[in-house]
Amino acid sequence: MEKHTGCAVSTNGSVMHALSPEKCDIDILDNGRTVNDFIDDKIKELGSQESEEPFYVVDLDGMFKRHMRWLTNLPRVKPFFAVKCNNTPAVLRMLSALDTGFDCASKCEIQLALSLGVTPDKIIYAHPTKPPSHIRYACAHGVDIMTFDNEDELQKISLFHTKAKLVLRIAVDDSKSLLRLSSKFGAELVEVGKLLERAGELGLEVIGVSFHVGSRCTGSLTFKDAIADARRVFDIANLYGVQMSLLDIGGGFPGREDFQVKFEEFSEVINGALDEFFPPDSGVQIIAEPGRYYVESVLTLAANVIAKRVVTDDMDEHSNDEETSHNRKMMYYINDGVYGSLNCLINDTTHIEIEPYLHRAVESSEQRYRSIIWGPTCDSFDKVTENYWIPELYVGDWLLIDNMGAYSVSVSSEFNGFEKAHIYPVVTAEMWHALNLSNIYNIIY
Ligand SMILES: Cc1ncc(COP(=O)(O)O)c(C=O)c1O
Repeated sequence: MEKHTGCAVSTNGSVMHALSPEKCDIDILDNGRTVNDFIDDKIKELGSQESEEPFYVVDLDGMFKRHMRWLTNLPRVKPFFAVKCNNTPAVLRMLSALDTGFDCASKCEIQLALSLGVTPDKIIYAHPTKPPSHIRYACAHGVDIMTFDNEDELQKISLFHTKAKLVLRIAVDDSKSLLRLSSKFGAELVEVGKLLERAGELGLEVIGVSFHVGSRCTGSLTFKDAIADARRVFDIANLYGVQMSLLDIGGGFPGREDFQVKFEEFSEVINGALDEFFPPDSGVQIIAEPGRYYVESVLTLAANVIAKRVVTDDMDEHSNDEETSHNRKMMYYINDGVYGSLNCLINDTTHIEIEPYLHRAVESSEQRYRSIIWGPTCDSFDKVTENYWIPELYVGDWLLIDNMGAYSVSVSSEFNGFEKAHIYPVVTAEMWHALNLSNIYNIIY
C-alpha cells in the first residue's frame, strides 16, 4: 500500500467537510395536541388519500426528556449518539441541537453527520476495523478520533491518517448483555503493551480506551468491572510513557421503560466506578456511545392490515370437525415486516416479542382469536408474531407498535418492493420555541 503523508485538504489548506445542511420537515403539536392525536389524524389523512403506507412517528420531546435524564444521571459522561442505531436526519438534528456528539461506524455515517452540520470534533469513528477508503475520508474531513483493537489496523491507519487520535477498544465481559459484541471486537489486556509499543513505532498517538459491554446490558456491575479494566489499561499506558486522556464507556444502556434494569441503576454504578477509578481531578474526559437509550422508546410504528386469511386452528382444544368461531385461527398480513422496520426480530435477538395493538378502540369483551401476523413479503420467514390473541382484525385496520426506534429504520430494506415506512417527526410548540428549532426544521402545515 502506498504511504500517504497527510490527508486530502481543500485548496485553501483547511480540512473539508460538507456544511449548508438542508432543513427537514416536522409537524408541530400545538393547542395541546398529543402524539396519539397526530397518529389519529395521520391515519385519517392517509385514508382520505386512499393510501395505507406504514409510518413512524418520532416523538422529539421524548428524546429531549431522555437527554435531560442522561445529563441528570451521568453528568460527567458526554453522550456520542451511535448513528447506526437510528440514522433518521430529524433524529440526528435534534441530538445535534442538544449538543451531543456522534459515534459513526463508516464513511457514510460520517458523511451524514457532516451533512447535517455536525463538526468533525463531535464525531468519533468508533469502528475498530475500517476500510482504507473510509479512513482516508475521515482524514480528509478532519475526523481524527477513531478506535482500533489490533496491530494490522494500526498499520493501516499509519498509512492513511497519520494525525489520528486513537482509542484502544478493549474486550470486556459482555455475558450479561442480550446482544454480545466482545467475540468480534476488543483487545485483551495482555495485548495492550504490544499494541501501544507498535503505535509508538508507527508514530501514532493513542489518546484513550473504549469498551462496549454489549447491547441491552442487564447487569449494572458489568460497567464497574469494565471501567476497572480500562483503569488497568491507563496504568499500563503510563508504564509505556503514554498519557491517556479519554475514556469511552460505549453503549448498552436501556432504551425502554419496561426494561428489567433501570437507567438510574446503571448510572449509580457508573458514577461510583468513575469516581473510584477516574476521579474528576484525573483530568480524563469521559464519553459514551448510547444508541437505543436515546431512540428506542420515542418511535412508534403504524402498519396496516393489507390482507387476511382465516384457517382452522388445530391447536384449539375446543375444536371439532365443524368450523366454529372458536376454532378459527387468524392470519393477518401487514405492510411492514422483518425485511422492513421489524428486522429487529431477526437481527436483534433482544426483541423477543413484538406486541402490536389495534389503533381503533376494542371492547374488552370482544372475542379473541389465536392470530399470526405476517409481514408483506413472499417469504415465510417474514413472520411478525404468532400465537397472539387479539380481537378479529379487518383489512384496512391499523396496528401500532411502540418502542420501535432502535435498529429498525437504519437496518430495513425494500425486499419484494415494499417501501420503507415513512418517518414523521413531531414536537410540541413549547419545545419548538424553547430549543429554537426553526433553525433546523421546516414546519409542515
Ligand atoms: C461501537 C458501538 N457503539 C455503540 C453502540 C450502541 O449500542 P446501544 O444501542 O446498545 O447503546 C454499538 C451497538 O452495536 C456499537 O457497536
